[in-house]
Amino acid sequence: MRGAGAPHPRTSEPENPVLVVGDLVVEHRNRSTGEVFRAVDHVSLSIAPGASVAVVGESGSGKTTLAMAATGLGARGTGDIRLLGHSLSTIGRRELRRLRPEVQVVFQDPHGSLDPRQSVRSGLRELRALQPRRTSWIEDAELLGRVRLAPEILDRYPHQLSGGQAQRVCIARALLMRPRLIVADEPTSGLDVSVQADVLALLQEIRASTGAALLMISHDLAVVRSLCAEVHVMYRGQVVEAGPCEQVFVAPVHEYTRELLAAMPGARWRSRR
Ligand SMILES: Nc1ncnc2c1ncn2[C@@H]1O[C@H](COP(=O)(O)OP(=O)(O)O)[C@@H](O)[C@H]1O
Ligand SMILES: [Mg+2]
Repeated sequence: MRGAGAPHPRTSEPENPVLVVGDLVVEHRNRSTGEVFRAVDHVSLSIAPGASVAVVGESGSGKTTLAMAATGLGARGTGDIRLLGHSLSTIGRRELRRLRPEVQVVFQDPHGSLDPRQSVRSGLRELRALQPRRTSWIEDAELLGRVRLAPEILDRYPHQLSGGQAQRVCIARALLMRPRLIVADEPTSGLDVSVQADVLALLQEIRASTGAALLMISHDLAVVRSLCAEVHVMYRGQVVEAGPCEQVFVAPVHEYTRELLAAMPGARWRSRR
C-alpha cells in the first residue's frame, strides 16, 4: 500500500497489482537431449504497488525462471501474466518496450550486468539517451549519493569496482528509471558477507522511498526475513507455501519450509518475537 506522502501512481487504477501471475507453467527443453523440464509448475502470485514479496527456495527450484517469465524477459510459458496492468500474452512489442523501464531487474552478478568497456558515467549517459524524459529527474552525482557511492565512482570502469560498489551501480541504474517494480534475483549472493546487509538495506530503503514494489528472489531465508513482508516458498517448480513472513516462518505448514528453517543456523526465528 502506498503511504500518504508517496508519489502519485501513474495509472488510473492505482491499487491494481503491479504484477499478477496466474497458473504459470514454464518448461525448458534440453538442447542436446530434447528432454523437457518443467521449471515452473502452476505458480500464482500477486504483488501490490509498493509491496515487498519474496520467492525463496533452493537452487534449481525455478525462481529465476519464474522471475524472467513474469517480467517478460525470459521463456514465457503458459498462464496469465499481468504486468503493470498489461497482459503479456496480448501486449504488443512497442507497448512492452514502453513498459520496460518501469520494471527493473537487479541480478546476482553485478559485474556481469555492467559493460566492461564503459565507465559508470558513460553507462548512465547511455541510459539517459534511451529515456531522456524519464531520467531527467536526478543528476549523476546525486543518483550515486542515493546508493551511497561517492561521485568519484562515475569515472571508474567496472573492473575498478568492488562487488558491493558494482551492485550499488546496478541499483542506481535501476533507480534512475523510476521503476514501479524492482526484481532482485539473488542480489547479494555474489558479494562479500560484509557488504551484503548494506546492499539489502539499500534495496529496502529505495523501495520505501520510491513506492516501487520489490520482488526479492533468494535461497536465503535470513535475507527474505529482513526484507520482505510476504514470502512464497518454491520447491521443484511449485509454490508449496505462501503468506506473510511472520506466519510462514513462525508456523510453517509445509515440510519443505520446515526443512529450510531447520537448516538455518540457530533458532532465531522463534526467539526474535
Ligand atoms: N535455459 C534453460 N534450459 C534448460 N534448463 C534450464 C534453463 N534455465 C533453467 N533451467 C533448469 O530449470 C530449473 C530451474 O532453474 P532456475 O529457474 O534457474 O532455478 P533457481 O533460480 O531457483 O536456481 C533448473 O533445473 C535448471 O537447470
Ligand atoms: Mg536463480
